[in-house]
Amino acid sequence: MASSPVHLAYRPTFAASQAVIHTDFLIIGSGIAGLSLALNLAERGRVTLVTKKALEDSNTNYAQGGVASVLGEDDSFDLHVQDTLAAGAGLCRREIVEMVVRDGPARIRDLESLGVAFTTQGGQLALGLEGGHSRHRIVHNADHTGREIETHLLDAVLDHERIDVHPYHMAIDLIGPRHVERANVRGVWGAYALDAATGEVRAFVAKRTVLATGGAGKVYRYTTNPDIATGDGVAMAHRAGARIANLEFVQFHPTCLYHPRAKSFLLTEALRGEGGRLIDAAGARFMDAYDARGELAPRDIVARAIDSEMKKTAAPCVYLDVTQLPSGMIERRFPSILERCLDFGIDPRREPIPVVPATHYFCGGIDVDARGRSSIENLFAIGEVSHTGLHGANRLASNSLLEALVFAERAYDGVLENVDTVTLPAVQPWEAPRGHVAPDPMVLEHDWDEARRVMWDYVGIVRSDQRLTIATERLSSLAATVESVYRKSRVNQDLLELRNIIEVGRLVVRSALLRKESRGLHYTETYPDRDDAHFLRDTVLERGGE
Ligand code: FAD
Ligand code: SIN
Repeated sequence: MASSPVHLAYRPTFAASQAVIHTDFLIIGSGIAGLSLALNLAERGRVTLVTKKALEDSNTNYAQGGVASVLGEDDSFDLHVQDTLAAGAGLCRREIVEMVVRDGPARIRDLESLGVAFTTQGGQLALGLEGGHSRHRIVHNADHTGREIETHLLDAVLDHERIDVHPYHMAIDLIGPRHVERANVRGVWGAYALDAATGEVRAFVAKRTVLATGGAGKVYRYTTNPDIATGDGVAMAHRAGARIANLEFVQFHPTCLYHPRAKSFLLTEALRGEGGRLIDAAGARFMDAYDARGELAPRDIVARAIDSEMKKTAAPCVYLDVTQLPSGMIERRFPSILERCLDFGIDPRREPIPVVPATHYFCGGIDVDARGRSSIENLFAIGEVSHTGLHGANRLASNSLLEALVFAERAYDGVLENVDTVTLPAVQPWEAPRGHVAPDPMVLEHDWDEARRVMWDYVGIVRSDQRLTIATERLSSLAATVESVYRKSRVNQDLLELRNIIEVGRLVVRSALLRKESRGLHYTETYPDRDDAHFLRDTVLERGGE
């Protein structure tokens, strides 16, 4: 994905040797959620934003389809609420769904006021259609909506004098009571972060800490997510004792490009919204046999249908056929996809595109309330890392950028609550693991591969208790090995991320084993039916409490 040169040229202005940095608000992550909240909070204090790679490295930057919001004349808040609740299969928090849907149009206007351009038609916003939506309501910028949003938010953040940004700083762990030199304190007081340039670990000490670290697609072997999506926020919050909810609900996107050289390239659902059809190798459509809504059924249904077709025919992929779309539409509406497919020698205007499902989105995460407050004092979570109750057991397409925008606004009040009464404690330096030798990169790579394969093979689209039990054993053994390497080595980003993907993988497996039914994105052959009598509730994990 092309990056804006202005961000690549950015150089941090703080002194490189500063081991402890004090701030009012620490935000971890520079996607749509972290950047939006940083802009809001900068009106009220000093904001420090750390992010583990380049500033624009985020899932946000890759979002294609757009942002769902009620803007069409034939649409209504009620319809968007109903569609979201239907996809969520009984587990959405209704008051959160209503809040997010109703706030949507104002948040779209905020983006426009920052200069974000959305595609228009006849002077009005052009509204796309995606699976599970009963109306056209996806606001977009061709097929690179995320990049348009990320670029404008970053420009505004970099222009703001009260926001300090620290790229290439990976948060390792949250600062808790045991790191603080003051008696009887509770909660979180910032985070320790590894500076990739120097290998030093800095303490970022803050009155309020916000995790905006995004998703965890990299926990699985095949994913639409970029490399940053290693579930660090959930792993850190869990280690700190925060409540984590509904991690069994992992969304697989039905259409990821299938090509040996293509790493994680999504083919937006909007292609099906415009009339794209799924076919098998013989050219036959199959979706109607699975759901009356055909290609526009919710994603879990489409992904399972493709999985089943591939298993039935032992085919490595199915195909997305957009050759019948009106002439010029692919060039105009999907320019990035056209360019990328042509790079791989596939011309979507003339031939079907090979596709497979891939891990795309985590509906669960750090459990928060309507203001982004986690179960731990001073700790907040917004965006994909959080579980707000909007998505329930399955996320409706294009509802996540919307959720991030709404919670970045709503969390503002939560973060500011009583903040003036808080004084920062003295914090101990990071308790480094004992070793000084870097971990062997080849062994790390193999462990990465093994963890992600176990998740793909045993915790994928179709699960069973037997498979989940195998995954439990394999991941426990890997976790023990990696923890011992962690204790003995000089840490680096690869090792820290590996530790986190294994931790999140284990939490997904534990959650999946607890849900003895099939619902939304969680489908298990051991319990193929939905069981409202016992499982119309969230799966909550708490350290020591689960
Ligand atoms: P992200 O945008 O992922 O940002 C997370 C940030 O945290 C990154 O900057 C990352 O580097 C940083 N970070 C992570 N760990 C650490 C750490 N330990 N220390 C420091 N920094 C850290 N949703 C929609 O609604 N509409 C769409 O059209 C759409 N299309 C998508 C297409 C693709 C290919 C993908 C992958 C996702 C898509 N989604 C879409 C989902 C949506 O993009 C994400 O849910 C959303 O962008 C998440 O935003 P976020 O700010 O929470 O996280
Ligand atoms: C897509 O464009 O298909 C992705 C939309 C989403 O994940 O919400």
